[in-house]
Amino acid sequence: MQRYEDRSTKNQSHATLFILLGFSSHGDLYIFLFLAFFLVYTFTLLGNLLIIVLSRMDSHLNTPMYFFLSNFSFLEICYTTVTVPKMLSDLFTGNRTISFCGCLTQMYFFFFFGTTEFFLLALMAFDRYLAICNPLRYQMIMSYKVCLLLVLCSWISGSLVPITPTSVISQLSFNSSNKVNHFFCDVAPIIKLSSDNTFVINLIVFMLSSIVVLSSILLVMVSYIFIICTILKIPSATGKQKAFSTCASHLIVVTIFYGTVIFMYVRPASSDSIDLNKVVSIFYSVITPMLNPIIYSLRNKEVKEALRKATRKLRTFENHSSVITSISSYKADLTTNKNGNEFRRSK
Ligand SMILES: *[C@@H]1O[C@H](CO)[C@@H](O)[C@H](O)[C@H]1NC(C)=O
Repeated sequence: MQRYEDRSTKNQSHATLFILLGFSSHGDLYIFLFLAFFLVYTFTLLGNLLIIVLSRMDSHLNTPMYFFLSNFSFLEICYTTVTVPKMLSDLFTGNRTISFCGCLTQMYFFFFFGTTEFFLLALMAFDRYLAICNPLRYQMIMSYKVCLLLVLCSWISGSLVPITPTSVISQLSFNSSNKVNHFFCDVAPIIKLSSDNTFVINLIVFMLSSIVVLSSILLVMVSYIFIICTILKIPSATGKQKAFSTCASHLIVVTIFYGTVIFMYVRPASSDSIDLNKVVSIFYSVITPMLNPIIYSLRNKEVKEALRKATRKLRTFENHSSVITSISSYKADLTTNKNGNEFRRSK
């Protein structure tokens, strides 16, 4: 293959095009892979959109917990959209090139949304801690404004973290090979391609990801230690169960998410076994974002109830006969849950 180099300027010695090898060693599986990823991606979009729409529409879900959850769903949509559509088009058209700039952009946003996920998951654990261990002050502390501010902080700090590694990587020279052995521009496979000394950038990436992951895990663990201590002190078994059920979904999501990403990132980026890395990164970049809405909608009574109500409303709208009833029942909904309304109204 020809190399795409800009020979006219001396300091720009990087390839201007990269080729994402992706799953090229499994050529006969293309159609199967395309269909599988297409289905998973569609399911991810629909599931996460459903969570966002439900928590906006249903007054029982107008609480800080569902505010954070819907923002997390929104983030999951962004996160998968960074990699999967490009991957699908690569599989479909067979054109697996990506420009150097496109590659850096993809890397930045993947890192950005990934980091924000860690911060948001930690935030959701903190929210559960306040709700369970400090229920009296919870309503007061977690106003709509505070929630918005906390979410905004997660997004902003998430966007700041990848700036340094991305700008350092953009300065590396890539003149030995432009074949990325991965299905998207992830940090480690790109660094591997560089002909420069990559010790410093590997160290930066390793330190940053360790700080993000460990600080987030620490916050989650401390929150859950307090939560478990509080739950153990509740005398009645039903009370215990009720308190635990509100954080069970979050605990499952956190465990899956941390399990896969820790395996992937908290070790020097130069480690070998790229093929194992590919399988694991399919898991955390494609599969886990799909699991989140499933876990939350299967486990939470409130979400199930909201879903049932929404389908009932949809059916009455379809029948055209009772639009007025559904509107009045929607109004009744709005007045039933005062706590929820207070959360929204204070915006
Ligand atoms: C989530 O929060 C970000 C930052 O505050 C905001 O831009 C985005 O619109 C929010 N999304 C949802 C669905 O609430």
